[in-house]
Amino acid sequence: MTQQNTTTSSAKLARDGFTSSFGVLAATLGSAVGLGNIWKFPYLTGANGGASFLLVYLLATLLVGLPVMISEIMLGRAAKRDAVSSLKILAPAGQPWWLIGAFGVLAAFLIMSFYSEVAAWVFAYVFKAMGGSILSSDPAVTSAAFAALVADPVQSLLWQWGVLLFIGGILLLGVSKGIEAVTKKLMPVLFLLLIVLGVRSLMLPGAAQGLSFLFTPDFSKITAGVVLTAMGLAFFKLSIGMGTMITYGSYFKDDQNIPLTTLRVMGADLFVSMLAGIAIFPAVFSFGFEPAAGPSLVFITIPAVFASMPFGHVFMVLFFVLTAIAATGAMLSILEVPVSVMVGRFGVSRPRAVLFTLLLLAAIGSTCALSGSLLADFKLFGLNMFDLFDEVSSKLIMPAGGIALCLFVGWVWGFDRMRDALSNHGQLQNEGLLRALFFVIRYVTPLLVLLVMLSGLGVF
Ligand code: PFF
Repeated sequence: MTQQNTTTSSAKLARDGFTSSFGVLAATLGSAVGLGNIWKFPYLTGANGGASFLLVYLLATLLVGLPVMISEIMLGRAAKRDAVSSLKILAPAGQPWWLIGAFGVLAAFLIMSFYSEVAAWVFAYVFKAMGGSILSSDPAVTSAAFAALVADPVQSLLWQWGVLLFIGGILLLGVSKGIEAVTKKLMPVLFLLLIVLGVRSLMLPGAAQGLSFLFTPDFSKITAGVVLTAMGLAFFKLSIGMGTMITYGSYFKDDQNIPLTTLRVMGADLFVSMLAGIAIFPAVFSFGFEPAAGPSLVFITIPAVFASMPFGHVFMVLFFVLTAIAATGAMLSILEVPVSVMVGRFGVSRPRAVLFTLLLLAAIGSTCALSGSLLADFKLFGLNMFDLFDEVSSKLIMPAGGIALCLFVGWVWGFDRMRDALSNHGQLQNEGLLRALFFVIRYVTPLLVLLVMLSGLGVF
């Protein structure tokens, strides 16, 4: 025990981490905010009936997202280690809770495989938008431009590898000088751009129709499948259920108020999703486009929408720059999961870990990059690799990881340790809040996630 304490404290001293409160917030928010807000959230809301979907998503965020996210950050900070090692040292000897971290590493590769491809389109679109080649108010033209990009194996691969190199380069700089420094600069820019775009969209004629689409519920659209989709989105959005927040939690400062920081991140993340919705839907309606256009909403409808408005060229460039920024913070956190496990668990140097992760990802990710071209007909369970990796991570691995985390905290780790960790060893007076939270973690969240998973997957 004493020996373990000594190693723990020397590991703490040597370990890189976030250096300021704002840095913690920027990096954590940087992980949460991403393509999920700007690409997934609008198209899922559009395809699943607008406001009723939003309501289910909000409930999932509060009842599932918040407790799981707090739990993860808490465990990471308590152990100060990567996702696998943290659970190894926090759990009683011989119990396999570390598998949550191991599945997290798997999920990181699956998610990054398709995520880096969507990011690849976004980065490509920044340049295409600047050059004006995608500026047309005719959706048939923007649609053909997007189809040409997706169907071109060379372009798809090269943009994806370019994105991977860019993210790898930042990761090489480390946690404080890489992840923290970059997200601290990018997050404020992201908010600024989003507000400019939101205001622009709201000033368009017919904006009210877009808002009512986003805010008027249609409960007939809510099925078990839609509830699972909304919950999967909550996991994906908050980067939880796969060890990302354990990893980032391990870089948190000791005096950081975890419940408060989590609430702030959750609130700001919701704000970004709403702003993205507000920037997108009023404009879509104003120019008479179709909101439920699926994943291509961002790449086909949006360029056409921008081309229809005055100064659309400038706003379109801003939109894709903003989306690229959002994707960057998220990708840094996804890759940090395997990188930190390789460093912490297997003693690999950080540069080697980054290199190895990138190479493996270039291989696995190429199946997604080529989903629209050479591998278009390669399907498992009726899905191409791009969709399969998305579905398996959001609807299976992350929710299952969330259940396991709650069971671990609620039934193994226990209230006393949780109170100690989340009150910063008694410095914060939040006993009432923690009791309520513990109840939710122990009973409500795991049951709820299990029910939603089983019914959404059609088990009953
Ligand atoms: N939260 C990110 C988004 O909404 O775009 C995606 C994500 C990041 C998922 C990190 C998982 C993760 F570990």
